Formats: sequence, C-alpha cells, structure tokens
Amino acid sequence: MDNLLMAHVHLPPFLKPNFDDWSAYELLLLAALTTALIWYLQFSWGQRRLYKYARNVPGPFAYPLIGSAHHFLGDPYQIFTNITGLYEKYPGIFKVWYGHRLFYAVSDPKYFEICCRTACRKNIGTGTRNQWWDMDFLQRPQANILVEQLTNYAEKGEFDIFHVVSKYSLDTICESTMGVKVNAQTTDSPFPKWVDRIFEIVFLRIFVFWYHFDFIFNMTMLAKDFSCCIENMHRYSEHVSQCIKQLVQCIQSVVREKKIAHEKEMGQLKQKGIQIKKRYDENSQFTEQELTEEVNTFIIAGSDTTASTSSFALVAMGLHQDLQQKVFEEVIDVIGPDRAVEPADLPHLKYTERFVKETLRIFPVAGFVVRAVEEDVDIGDHVLPSGSSVIFGILRAHTNEKYWPDPYKFDPDRFLPEEVAKRHPCTYVPFSYGPRNCIGMKYGMMSIKTLIATVIRRYRIHTSYKRLEDIKLKSNLVLRPKDGYKVSIEVRQ
Ligand code: HEM
Repeated sequence: MDNLLMAHVHLPPFLKPNFDDWSAYELLLLAALTTALIWYLQFSWGQRRLYKYARNVPGPFAYPLIGSAHHFLGDPYQIFTNITGLYEKYPGIFKVWYGHRLFYAVSDPKYFEICCRTACRKNIGTGTRNQWWDMDFLQRPQANILVEQLTNYAEKGEFDIFHVVSKYSLDTICESTMGVKVNAQTTDSPFPKWVDRIFEIVFLRIFVFWYHFDFIFNMTMLAKDFSCCIENMHRYSEHVSQCIKQLVQCIQSVVREKKIAHEKEMGQLKQKGIQIKKRYDENSQFTEQELTEEVNTFIIAGSDTTASTSSFALVAMGLHQDLQQKVFEEVIDVIGPDRAVEPADLPHLKYTERFVKETLRIFPVAGFVVRAVEEDVDIGDHVLPSGSSVIFGILRAHTNEKYWPDPYKFDPDRFLPEEVAKRHPCTYVPFSYGPRNCIGMKYGMMSIKTLIATVIRRYRIHTSYKRLEDIKLKSNLVLRPKDGYKVSIEVRQ
C-alpha cells in the first residue's frame, strides 16, 4: 500500500528517504541549496566580529539578507526623511545593517572627533590645503555678469535662484582655479542640471537596495538618464575639456607640493607650481581615467556646494529682512555702493561671514559624511569594529538642542568668537573635520561672501517661505530644498 502511494503521489524531496527516488532536478536543487547554505554560514562566520560588536547597539530591525534596507525606499525626499527620523529615534548612536554591511550612525560631536582622527577612507589625493587658486578671480567680472543675469528676474515674481547661481559658481571655479573661461552664465550651460541629476541618481543607487544590482538598474530609466548626463558632461564644449586638462595639472601641483603648505605668497606658490607641474609631466603616477575622475569630483565639489550654500543664504535673507538689512549695511560700509568686491574687503565682512556660517549650520551641504572604519575604534561606550562604516549626521549635530538652543532660530551671532569658544569643535562641521575635510573651505567662503556682497547691493531679496521649518529638505547626495530655492528680487533704489 505504501509503495503504491509513493509511486502515485509527488512527495516533496525531503519526504523521500531514499536518494534513488530523487529526480536529477531535485538533486541539483539540493546541491545548490546546500552550497548556498554553506556559503551563508561561512560568510556569517567571517562577519562574527561585526555581529558581536553590533549586538548591544540599538537600531532598526534587520531582516536576513537585506538588513534594514526597507527603510530606504521611495524618492530622495522620502529616504532623507526616513534617515533623519532614525537619527531622532536613536539619539547618540545606532546601527543599521544594509544587506551584509554594518553602519554606525552617530551625531554626537565627541564620537565624530574620535572617528575622524582614527578612521579614514581613501579619497581624492589632494593632501594639502594650499591656496592654489587665483585670488584675483574676485576682480574678474563673473559677479557682475551674475548681477546682470538677475535683471531678467527682477520684479517678475518667484524663481529658483539656484539655476542662476550654479552657473556663476561653475564659471568662477573654472576661472579662478584654472584661469579658463567656460561662460556658463552667458551660454546658459546645462552642466549644473546634469550634475544635479547625476547626484540624484547616485543617491538613489546607494540607498535603494535593488538598484545595487546592475541588471536591475540597467533596465530602469534612471540608468538611461545617468549615461545620458555622463555623456553630455564628457562632450561638454572644448572649454571644459581644456578646464579638465588644466585642472589635472593643478591638482597634481597640489598633491605633490606638500612641503609648501604654509607658503603665503601667491608669486612663490605659482613658481613652485610650475616646477611641480614639470615634475608631474615627467613622472605621472595617475592614469588618465583616475585623473579625470578626480577632476570631475573637484569641479562638482567646488561649484555645486558653493552654489547651494549661496542660494540657501539668499533664501535665509528673504526670510529675515532685519538680518538682510544688517548684511547690506555692513557691505555698504566696507565696500561702498558701486565698487567691485576685492579680496582685501572680505575679512572685514564679519557679519556677512557669520550669516553664511549660520546658513551652513542649518543647511549643511553634506547632511551626512561616511567614513570606513579601517581599524577597531574605541569610542568610549562602544567599539566600532574594522570593516564597518560610520555615518556622521552633520545636519543632526547642527540642530541638536543640546548644543544649539532654539536650533531653528536663525541667529548669526551664534558665531561670535566668544560663543564659538564655548562649543566642542565638532558641534559645527559643515566642511567635515580631520584629515579628510574639505580642501575648498576658504575658497568656498570667499566665493559665497563675494556673491552676497555683489547681489545684495543691487537687489533686495524676498521669499514666500514663512519660516525656516517650512523649507522641507531632501538629499541628492547634497542637501537640497524639496521645493526649490524660492526667492523673488526687487531692485534697490
Ligand atoms: C560651501 C562650500 C563647501 C562645503 C559646505 C563643502 C563641504 C565638504 C565636505 C563636508 C567634505 C567632506 C566630504 C566627506 O567627508 O565625504 C568636502 C570634501 C571636499 N571638498 Fe568641499 N565643500 C565646499 C566647497 C568646496 C570647494 C569650493 C571645493 C573646491 C575648490 C571643494 C572641494 C572638495 C574636495 C576635493 C573634497 C574631498 C577632500 C578629501 O577627500 O580629501 N569643496 N567638502
């Protein structure tokens, strides 16, 4: 009777005690499953240190294989909101398993300081912080072109000022660091739009789990858009390729000349630069592709960040008419109504600088920075094991009530020297901190102050945003307002 039953009923393989009864397909399946299980056990064994250290750290529930990747679904706004939500839910430190990768998310300044000192990640090779750019850029007419471009928008209602400012930033970064004109403002260059779209797609690719798999990503419109933007960027006018070539040399100069890190004189620096360039030409260590990648990073890092911060600062001025008036009065006081801004003016624009710093507190371009933990790091309460990564929540640290009373009150005087002295240095890190912080910090501040000083003398800025909290943020790798940098401008009499 039993045999009769076995012959007519298709039992699942695990109910067939005799392997002779298994079909070839079932045997193959068994072999595949066993291999997968062995691989998984082996892999988990290799990860045991991570599991051990992560066990006592709070964090969202992690499913097998995907971990907590389900928290990072949706559009950039949704993903960003979920991440900030997690930072609020788990103050201090929490862990996130993303597939098999372990991330520690921290926002406490004391952790950030330790992590930046000890954990490091490979990145762009520019290891020195020289003023390699041309200080004279400020005398060049790009700022005046910006003011002229803005006349097209004056008294015409609200618009997104980033579209105008980003072209100015592209012009100035190319001209001041390489002496090459790309005329982005006058030719209405689409370059910043491509950059923005690339950022958005890269952000989605990082966070949305299934986009990690090439075969899925390549089937989407995102992949098509991505290659289209990249191709466009590469084809972008002879001027940009000229820029790239010159910037390659410029980066090489900076990379190779660590010894002159403290030299102040531009003349001497230029002289050294020529020598270094010669050495580089004779003995290059970078492949062409590596250099092009570094160059792209540099142009993008240099233009988009300053454009975004300047645009946020103009929106903040629209929101705070009284503070805008203070900036205006200072600029008139220091520079007067008509004269072009000169480098020597900038250190005197103290209030304007505080205004920009406060803008960067509430709208830090990089809302988060990530570091790979290369050796175990003891942060006091926990040990972060090598092989994990740390995500430092800059935005969260900048708006933490513990360090910033009434955090959404826009108050540039938080950056008076006596106030700054009271705070831990890592409570405010818009340019990151430690050995891999921003190399364009000084240039960025100068560029933004020049822009503000030029624009504010000609135009009064308004915005329809009513409060800072109304500006919903999203992240396209860099922080962006979900509804745009909305301002309207009125010509000052
Ligand atoms: C307001 C303006 C700027 C802000 C807020 C800003 C912010 C940052 C931050 C937070 C980082 C660290 C990123 C990380 O750790 O993952 C960074 C790195 C970097 N920034 Fe900036 N940046 C600004 C302007 C600039 C400018 C003008 C340049 C170029 C001229 C520049 C070039 C770079 C480069 C090359 C790096 C990578 C440095 C390295 O890895 O060693 N940035 N920036």
